[in-house]
Amino acid sequence: MKRIGVLTGGGDCPGLNAVIRSVVRTAAKNGIEVIGIKNGWKGLIDNETIELRLGSVSGILPKGGTILGTSRTNPYKNSEDAKKVVANYKKRELDALIVIGGEDTLGVANKLMKENESLNIVGVPKTIDNDLSATDFTFGFDTAVNLATEAIERLHTTAESHHRIMVVEVMGRHAGWIAVYSGLAAGADLILIPEVPMDLDEVCDVLKKRHARGKGFSIVVVAEGAKFKEGQVVVQEEKLDAFGHVRLGGIGEILAQEIEKRTKFETRVTVLGHIQRGGTPSAFDRVLATRFGVKAVELALNKKFGYMASLSGNEIRDVPIAAAVGALKTIDMRLYEIAKIFFG
Ligand code: F6P
Repeated sequence: MKRIGVLTGGGDCPGLNAVIRSVVRTAAKNGIEVIGIKNGWKGLIDNETIELRLGSVSGILPKGGTILGTSRTNPYKNSEDAKKVVANYKKRELDALIVIGGEDTLGVANKLMKENESLNIVGVPKTIDNDLSATDFTFGFDTAVNLATEAIERLHTTAESHHRIMVVEVMGRHAGWIAVYSGLAAGADLILIPEVPMDLDEVCDVLKKRHARGKGFSIVVVAEGAKFKEGQVVVQEEKLDAFGHVRLGGIGEILAQEIEKRTKFETRVTVLGHIQRGGTPSAFDRVLATRFGVKAVELALNKKFGYMASLSGNEIRDVPIAAAVGALKTIDMRLYEIAKIFFG
């Protein structure tokens, strides 16, 4: 093992740089050179790379984003692109490639490996959404939850002063992990998630009862992928990205309008948006990302290609990448049942 590549693909999240640093430092200890691929799979299509030396990763542990850049480029959108990825992997004389990504980026890794025996890929799971199977947590999630928790707490005081209902829309795509964790941590009065279609009558009933027992304000956390019982998810635009995803967003506004109309309580909405993806990673995410980076290099050294670092309990293990990308990991309903105890 002389030279490994590393790339970050899909939506960025806090902790990507911590993984890159960990990969470079661990590789250096083992006499391995590291090539950074720019902008996810796009960098392997365009052959855009940089050498990553110890100096390149100095000071990046607490930095959000990714020094390599990222993209949502899917090499399988165009069959020529997938061939270019393989050709450039060979041209750069990589002995292995560490792919840091979520379901889409790792899905491509899985497909590429199935089709090309010469590609040696190991994975690292990332996403603020925590919706990747075969790992208890992805890095980036904890930071997003901390940010959302603080925001919800701040909304409490203004909601209380003005006797208002505050609707907070959080990210998470089609899974309610961020909503449930931040809602539980910040004491939300209702948490609405994609896994359980919303019944507006029930939502308003909970809020009215809460007000009837003297609580003049309420906090409602809604995940961007939540939908009404009889409705569809709310999207910002119909256009699909290269992986066939819609751009979610807007359910908070619609929900707030409906709540105000039906309950007559003054209601405001806050959409946290990409703030959840930016900034410095939490200590938990820094440690998790660092452990994942070390594990990824170990997997490459042990020629355990097609595997991904994963967190199981407090152990870092390895699982087939295929097991992570097969199905979306939606919320653990036992946790949602706990959250429900505190509704209203
Ligand atoms: O997957 C991470 C995520 O932040 C989702 O929570 C969100 O739906 C999506 O990415 C937003 O994507 P973009 O950065 O393309 O707007």
